[in-house]
Amino acid sequence: MFLQRVVVFCALLGVSWCTEDWTFPEGFKFGAASASYQVEGGWNAKDKGENIWDRFSHAHPEIIKNSDNGDVACDSYNQWERDIEMAKELGLDFYRFSLSWSRLLPTGLDNYVSEDGTAYYNNLINGLLAAGIQPMVTLYHWDLPLPLQELGGWTNPLIADWFTDYARVAYSLFGDRVKIWLTINEPIVICDVAYNTGVLAPGIRSPEHGANICTKNVLLSHAKAYRLYDTEFRSRYHGEVSLANQLVWFEPATADDKELAEIAIENVTGRYSHPIFSKEGGWPPVIEKMMAERSKEKGYSKSVLPPFTQEEKELIRGTYDFYAMNHYTSRLIRKAKEGEHTATWYFGGFRDMNAVLSPGSDWKPTASTWFYQYPPGIRGQLVWLKEHYGDMKFMITENGLATFGGLNDQDRIDYYESYLKQLLLAIREDGVKLTHYTAWTLMDNFEWTDGYSVKYGLYEVDFEDPKRPRVPRASAHYYASIIKNHSLNVVKPKNENDRLTAREEL
Ligand code: NOJ
Repeated sequence: MFLQRVVVFCALLGVSWCTEDWTFPEGFKFGAASASYQVEGGWNAKDKGENIWDRFSHAHPEIIKNSDNGDVACDSYNQWERDIEMAKELGLDFYRFSLSWSRLLPTGLDNYVSEDGTAYYNNLINGLLAAGIQPMVTLYHWDLPLPLQELGGWTNPLIADWFTDYARVAYSLFGDRVKIWLTINEPIVICDVAYNTGVLAPGIRSPEHGANICTKNVLLSHAKAYRLYDTEFRSRYHGEVSLANQLVWFEPATADDKELAEIAIENVTGRYSHPIFSKEGGWPPVIEKMMAERSKEKGYSKSVLPPFTQEEKELIRGTYDFYAMNHYTSRLIRKAKEGEHTATWYFGGFRDMNAVLSPGSDWKPTASTWFYQYPPGIRGQLVWLKEHYGDMKFMITENGLATFGGLNDQDRIDYYESYLKQLLLAIREDGVKLTHYTAWTLMDNFEWTDGYSVKYGLYEVDFEDPKRPRVPRASAHYYASIIKNHSLNVVKPKNENDRLTAREEL
């Protein structure tokens, strides 16, 4: 009734944002995310083991902006209570964070479980639940225990068992309270981007072999950890498990490039999704064929994309309870002209496609060099997934804007509004069963090779101050207001001091 009056009032004034009803479906959940290495610090606290990001950032400060590292980061290892308070201030339904494998299992293996690590995550989980906030837990967000890397890390097939043992420890310790699990965050970055560029930990360049072997092993690791939940934990804990994929959306630059755009989507989305979410399982056929042909041309007797056995295909196929998508950016794609330079971008497959990628001319750039804004991309991607893999449940597990800082972040407010509108359209007009939205990120944190120079936070963190104080940006008030009203029909804050929510103001 109240909202109807507001809408009529706005219509009279001709204010467009409230003439349309941008309310989210009942039960839709809002959250924010972080990741262990990016926020925790306490890199050598108590018995924590060293991980690949500890080692990489210490050994190669020259690769990371301002030689930053995650030794202290946001100091969440000590300040988890403040993190919970912030989640409360925002009114989050859930908080997504990751476990540091080497904080829980200092050697990487399950023969020794850290009491300190266990207590840290118990405190965080219990504190969140006491505040009415559900924990959503990622098992692996890029910080592999160093001893496992020394045995080959994700390129050693045994990793699937090591990871499953780690998952068993985590499910056993926290599964009574954690109901949403993400096994692995962004296989494409762990494997394709890391091994294609060598500028992410473990700092190894091996585009042809490392990237592809890693991909296969990551998929097997996820699958085994999922099956473990099914057989040993599901009947007791009734939780849900999936993995989070980073999806870049591709639009054909011209009508002639539609087929190429489809191959690009299969390369970036299908490679990590088809084996799990398609009815047939295995690699996307178009990618398998492309990789086999290119491998032959290069003189290999076998494809550099390792095949799955039938048994492996069956093991991986269907290991999901929902689709978890991290989404930030999109690209236009077209065929390269004669002699034109074809940039590979970060992903291996483009080297073999003879394609040129670019942002649209009116897509706004951001503080992350790879990131241009294109709100319709998030909707296009969801629809593609629904059409290709079926009408399942979807969650956005990351989405947010990179800036260079400042508390009055109107650009971030506009970003959230425009991307959330596209999600509402996907729900209403395309029938996408989207249930969760996760803002990246709760607070500024260690943005990998960009160090602390690039900011994604709803809260600003002062990294010069040893206390790492956190201050809400204007976007934090905006997001809190959206959550409170369960709608985008809210007044946008004019600056960081403007804390009114739509209902209170109107
Ligand atoms: C996705 C990654 O999961 C996260 O760690 C990173 O900070 C954001 N992208 C922004 O680059």
